[in-house]
Amino acid sequence: MAGRRSTKRFSPHPVELDKVLQIIQAGTLAPSSGNIQNWSFVVITDVGKIRALYHHTLDQDPFLSAMAAVIVCGDVEYAHSMYGMRGKRLYTVQNCAAAIQNMLLAAQAVGLGACWIGAFDEDKVSLMFNIPNHRHRPQAIILFGYAAEEPEPKGTKALESVVFFNEFGNCVLRPHLVFYDWATEWRNQAKNVKEHSVSAWHRLASQRRKDTVEKDASRGASERVSESSSGSSSDASIPGNDGSSRKRSPLELARERIRTRIEGLKREEYRREE
Ligand SMILES: Cc1cc2nc3c(=O)[nH]c(=O)nc-3n(C[C@H](O)[C@H](O)[C@H](O)COP(=O)(O)O)c2cc1C
Repeated sequence: MAGRRSTKRFSPHPVELDKVLQIIQAGTLAPSSGNIQNWSFVVITDVGKIRALYHHTLDQDPFLSAMAAVIVCGDVEYAHSMYGMRGKRLYTVQNCAAAIQNMLLAAQAVGLGACWIGAFDEDKVSLMFNIPNHRHRPQAIILFGYAAEEPEPKGTKALESVVFFNEFGNCVLRPHLVFYDWATEWRNQAKNVKEHSVSAWHRLASQRRKDTVEKDASRGASERVSESSSGSSSDASIPGNDGSSRKRSPLELARERIRTRIEGLKREEYRREE
């Protein structure tokens, strides 16, 4: 799902009919209100007709290269007879949308590019393909073909900006903290620490190399630089059992940082909740 994107430019390679039928089969597996499955699919294999659709679809470029298309129609009368206006206006749209999304994912699974087209002249398209649109309203045209472009991965809105808890508008930045899901917090923190430790280690190593070169230069090659002379800092030492102080290991320092950070996050989260 993360790799799916709309394809807007297709190669002239023909599309196998059995792939299109598999895709439609996937569409019919979608949920529908009361399982009424009030959809139908007009498959267009005639490339000339796909090109002719260009002018009924606000001159959209994907129609100039698509190699197959499917018009998805929704039976509004059937839905109306079952569920009244809600069935006609809402459920039909939702049923067909669920089928279309299944079809887009199926197209990706069989290696085809696809584009969902919603902007078209319903009357002209219906006339062109003899669709009795007073009952079987065209909901979308899906274009298919082998992709002639490599789309960029898509950015999605941050979850915390679209997810609310228990009340609309009630967003929580780190829901796992509210739900006491410490495993998630530890995993996040461990990832940060790992990245931090690796870069700290590189910094330390390069500092040591520099120190060694400088000391060698000033004191002569016979003097060795002791290991303990580099990278130490006052906050990096802790008292040992015998009263002496020893240097803290990077792991101990990292743990300390995580503990402090989690405490801070918890405090922030509770403040937000209040
Ligand atoms: C209801 C609907 C109508 C759409 N209509 C068009 C359209 O008319 N022309 C088009 O090029 N893309 C159309 N799209 C595709 C969107 O542009 C596309 O899904 C969106 O930019 C997100 O990109 P993605 O599919 O690569 O994730 C439509 C998509 C939906 C869901």
